[in-house]
Amino acid sequence: MRLFAAIDLDDPIRQRILRFMEGVRGFAPEVRWVSPASLHITLKFIGESNQLEAIREKLSNIQAPPTQISFRGAGFFPTARSPRVFWVGVEADKHLAELAQKVEKALLPLGVEKEERAFTPHLTLARSGSGAPSRQSSDGQNKKFQHLQEQLAKIPPPDFGTMTAHQFFLYQSKTAPAGAVYTKLTGFELQ
Ligand code: 2AM
Repeated sequence: MRLFAAIDLDDPIRQRILRFMEGVRGFAPEVRWVSPASLHITLKFIGESNQLEAIREKLSNIQAPPTQISFRGAGFFPTARSPRVFWVGVEADKHLAELAQKVEKALLPLGVEKEERAFTPHLTLARSGSGAPSRQSSDGQNKKFQHLQEQLAKIPPPDFGTMTAHQFFLYQSKTAPAGAVYTKLTGFELQ
């Protein structure tokens, strides 16, 4: 099964982002918009694994405090010219990056690969093409986000507020033609 660890959103933040998505969606109708119920901050992409119980146990042994997270601004990965991921910015205290590191470290003994890229917390709202966040040699100009980019340039950076995460979750991702479906499997307390 395909797994990842992530932070879920508090409802007031989700509602504000949902209204923002409804407002801008029409500027990029051809890209794949994430279902608002599925919005999350990925801590660690685990990928295909059949070690569900061992992963649960490792994650349940993590000790980490709650983390304060603000959701502000929006942008594109890998670049504005070749955008594949439309994201909302995430600014957090040091505990979020530390938690991501702890998750990675806890899963290393199970053979879960280390992420080569630096941890760049963000909230993916939409994807186009492969949806890959890193630069690739084949990158070409992608115009599917162009109208949206022009509209965003006219408004101040959106501010969706601040929350404190008291939990993180192990999710399962099931790929489907209409877009991946994410299911929470287990929650882990931050305290
Ligand atoms: P995202 O946070 O940029 O959206 C479930 O698929 C989550 O894991 C997604 O939210 C996605 O990133 C992240 N993800 C998916 N495939 C990935 C991959 N190959 N490498 C790293 N992260 C991945």
